[in-house]
Amino acid sequence: TPRVFSGIQPSGGLTLGNYLGALKRFADSQNSGIQSIYCMVDLHAITVWQDPAKLTRATRELCAGFIASGIDPNKSILFNQSQVPEHAQLAWIFNCVARMGWMKRMTQWKDKAGKNQENASLGLFAYPALMAADILLYHATHVPVGEDQKQHLELTRDIAIKFNNDFGVEFFPITEPVIEGAATRVMSLRDGSKKMSKSDPSDMSRINMTDDADAIASKIRKARTDPDALPSEAKGLEERPEARNLVNIYAALSDQTVDQVLTDVGGKQFSEFKPMLSDLAVAKLSPISTEMARLMEAPDEIDAILRHGATQAREIAAPILAKTYEIVGMVR
Ligand code: TYM
Repeated sequence: TPRVFSGIQPSGGLTLGNYLGALKRFADSQNSGIQSIYCMVDLHAITVWQDPAKLTRATRELCAGFIASGIDPNKSILFNQSQVPEHAQLAWIFNCVARMGWMKRMTQWKDKAGKNQENASLGLFAYPALMAADILLYHATHVPVGEDQKQHLELTRDIAIKFNNDFGVEFFPITEPVIEGAATRVMSLRDGSKKMSKSDPSDMSRINMTDDADAIASKIRKARTDPDALPSEAKGLEERPEARNLVNIYAALSDQTVDQVLTDVGGKQFSEFKPMLSDLAVAKLSPISTEMARLMEAPDEIDAILRHGATQAREIAAPILAKTYEIVGMVR
């Protein structure tokens, strides 16, 4: 049976990249009838230092972001990872299945640890094994993510294959990454070769889900572009990363393909297109940020949703972990 799982780190605020690459797509697929499980991955967040009070707030704000984006906690399971201890338990088994060499090849590890690998946390190195545990603990078959998570999902498949091989079972499914839509890689507004990220030092590089209309408009107005007019077909954007990024964002926000957008705006200058994009972004994002702020006024209600989701998640996870222990040979 198909099952969807995805996770987002509660580390700092949500960006337009998280919304278009993940949250909006989760909301759009909500009525597909497939059981969907979404996790605020707090255990992943602490692989780099998190101030405790900020982590608490970011976890609640992320949950508010899910709900405000249209994900209904009565239809999908929403919970935070640390409330389901089976994640950490299965991750340990996978730490013993995965190989050091696999982990060392992860580009996120290389980027985040940088030159000072000796001083990075052991958790940051093992991060992808915990991610594999998140997914495989539910026997999830489909994992909707942005492009940047592709390598981690390939590693998840490698872990499932090696576990099944080592123990001579067909237990863990081979997961399909779902990387679809016009905005699976939203780029920085300042540099079309870098992805939009909450950790970029420049706030002008990203749109935050909590930005107000003025901030959104000024970031789009100042976004880097080239001097040419917009082309009338997607292939005209191939060598124009900044232009392509803005058109991709427009397409994703308006539920159109890039070619559909260019049919309307091809030939326009950015001086004309940018105000269209910022009006669209404000119209789509400000109701979400207003709703997030409203939900954040009742943190107890958010906590209750996460607790309830954790109970539902454990009902699925516990038997799968128990079976894993049995396969491995742990006495019960
Ligand atoms: P995280 O928290 O960095 O990002 C959450 C989701 O947002 C997507 N995303 C983007 N999509 C398009 N353009 C961007 N600029 C952009 N930035 C972020 C990410 O691809 C992701 O889908 N390791 C994961 C969290 C995780 C997870 C999991 C995901 C933990 N366990 C299990 C799926 C399944 C991460 O750090 O995502």
